[in-house]
Amino acid sequence: MSKKPVILSGIQPSGNLCIANYMGAIKNWVSFQNDYDSIFLIVDLHSISTMQKPSELRQRSLSFAAQYIACGIDPDKSIIAIQSHIKEHVELAWVLSSITYLGELNRMTQFKDKSKKQGSNINSALYTYPILMAADILLYQANLVPVGQDQKQHLELTRDLAVRFNNQFSETFTLPEPYIPKIGSRIMSLQKPDNKMSKSDENLNNIITLLDDPNIVIKKIKRAVTDSKSGIKYDVSRPGLANLLTLFSLSSNQSIEKIESQYSESMYSVFKKDLADSINEMLRPIQKEYKLLMNDKSYIKSILENGAKRASLRAYKTIDKVYRKIGLLKR
Ligand code: TYM
Repeated sequence: MSKKPVILSGIQPSGNLCIANYMGAIKNWVSFQNDYDSIFLIVDLHSISTMQKPSELRQRSLSFAAQYIACGIDPDKSIIAIQSHIKEHVELAWVLSSITYLGELNRMTQFKDKSKKQGSNINSALYTYPILMAADILLYQANLVPVGQDQKQHLELTRDLAVRFNNQFSETFTLPEPYIPKIGSRIMSLQKPDNKMSKSDENLNNIITLLDDPNIVIKKIKRAVTDSKSGIKYDVSRPGLANLLTLFSLSSNQSIEKIESQYSESMYSVFKKDLADSINEMLRPIQKEYKLLMNDKSYIKSILENGAKRASLRAYKTIDKVYRKIGLLKR
């Protein structure tokens, strides 16, 4: 087995993969995969904590796998797998739920936000979801978990659970560290720049998806909310513009300062046109590769089958150890 440190991350197959997921997470996965033993999951069991149409979920899981590869995740270097194909995720989640306090779950801000959206009859999966996420991470003894800012609290819970289990039953789990990028960890909505950009947003004008047509990208950026002040300058009190500058910097690999100095005297219209071009340049090779991949679904399925096989071997090792430590009789 490889001696490289392990990284693990995942995305729920809900909504449309968007540039926020790319900039906050996937882009970093791609650069880490050479130096780490990498596992990237499509966490389908997480996604059923909100209502999904079965036929769409099935199609989306495959499409997300193709998008991971199109973004640069190399199946020869990294494991790409569907969470539900590895049964140990659910098994470990159950064990971890026995050492998770209700108070800890009550504190989760994402649960508070999402349950507001569900209104009445909030399902319990939405509540216990962070335990499943902890299981995803601890199952593979991950050292590093590259995610956006919104997952930080879930990572803290994961660490607390690992420490608690290790103290109670002896050293078992590696303590994972979050990796949250300095720029791009919280991309904001285009129309409501005080809210984060979310792939499940029903208003598609708030997000740019990885598969958006170039003309759609131009339109969405044109309509993006800014302010009436003049000058293109990064300023947190101008959240719309600050977000667009972040998008420009990440899509063009230039510093925000450089972009500010280039556009300081420009009109919004010029700045926005160039920003849309820069995003389209970033998306072009991804979309091209995605189209090719989706013409060969059996190839993607074979990658996922292989990924599940490799992941299962490792997951079994951990769950076997965990079951023994907590006193379950050997099967
Ligand atoms: P999910 O599916 O909501 O988001 C996937 C990844 O995209 C990041 N992200 C963002 N980054 C920057 N700006 C934004 N506006 C933005 N929105 C989303 C997320 O932080 C995430 O990295 N619970 C997780 C999925 C998960 C997971 C895991 C992640 C399940 N198990 C184990 C890591 C490790 C989630 O719902 O992400």
